[in-house]
Amino acid sequence: MSLYQSIIRPLLFNMDPEKVHHLSMSGLALSTGIPGVRDIMASAWSHADSSLEKKLWGLTFKNPVGLAAGFDKDGLLADKWKYLGFGFVEVGTVTPRPQAGNPKTRLFRLPEDQAIINRMGFNNQGVEAMARRLERSSRGDVVLGANIGKNKVTPNEQAVDDYVICFNRLHDLVDYFVVNVSSPNTPGLRSLQEREPLTRLLGTLQELNQSKATPRPLLLKIAPDLNESQLDDIVAVAGDTQLSGLIATNTTISREGLSTPIERIESIGAGGLSGKPLTQASQDVLKYLYQQTDGKLPLVGVGGIMDGQDAKNRLEAGASLVQVYTGFVYGGPGFVKSILQHL
Ligand code: FNR
Repeated sequence: MSLYQSIIRPLLFNMDPEKVHHLSMSGLALSTGIPGVRDIMASAWSHADSSLEKKLWGLTFKNPVGLAAGFDKDGLLADKWKYLGFGFVEVGTVTPRPQAGNPKTRLFRLPEDQAIINRMGFNNQGVEAMARRLERSSRGDVVLGANIGKNKVTPNEQAVDDYVICFNRLHDLVDYFVVNVSSPNTPGLRSLQEREPLTRLLGTLQELNQSKATPRPLLLKIAPDLNESQLDDIVAVAGDTQLSGLIATNTTISREGLSTPIERIESIGAGGLSGKPLTQASQDVLKYLYQQTDGKLPLVGVGGIMDGQDAKNRLEAGASLVQVYTGFVYGGPGFVKSILQHL
């Protein structure tokens, strides 16, 4: 057990989860701002090994482990995550206009299940604030992705416009894009995963993308709650619109197989579940997509990767890259290094 898990985590887990999140972000901003401290962090928590390097979409990932979307929603630390060992970072989900997200409390830990339930609802400062921040930051050798979404007030019929605004504003500032239609916390968003609206959305974005001097890899992030026929539709649309890859998966609306008492689950209410209870479902979706695409479409595996073995399993099941969120919250700053050592 690490120092984080034995001493620091119990202290942090006594505090409100969202406060801890902001505290951790501030702590990281502060510590990485001091060159000496930054160097100590990098030597303690990163793991340089050229055999872990991965080339994909013309980009070089120094390792295949990335920070999943939703942790750094505004790109506050886009250039700092490398000190914790990440090979790539996905900022967002960002929407055209700033929005507050759902009322608090909206983030809950389930320690008995090594899980989190959240209904943040795309709280973010808007694409302009993110773009200005990214314009000022120097990224170095970490691949940067932007996860884009729509504002809550935008009806689904006009959703394309929101994605286009985010895409255009960030196009010169990031290495790849992820279209998020799989968050359970924006009402109606996931119905954009259906074949017809999805084709329209991705077709429009891809056409715009291909008109640029440097088209970016365009990916789609999907929910773990889709059945096989819905996944078949996704694969078909991905082919029709020439996507560069799929990210599987977002959080689940399922509450199956939890050890946390039912009264507690019911008192939490709606939201997306992440962490250990999601491992199998995310792995199964990834495996299915790999089979249905004959391994020809790059896949990013995310959902319940809680240790090095989970990451290895996901890569062996067909993922080209993996991302972590809840495992990082439970594992602490040494989490990425522990995965990389296992790989
Ligand atoms: C998320 N996730 C997420 N995903 C996304 O595409 N956009 C987002 O804004 C967010 N926000 C967000 C907030 C919080 C608090 C959590 C816990 C998760 C989903 C995340 O990127 C990932 O897909 C899932 O959490 C599954 O991975 P883990 O957490 O099991 O490793």
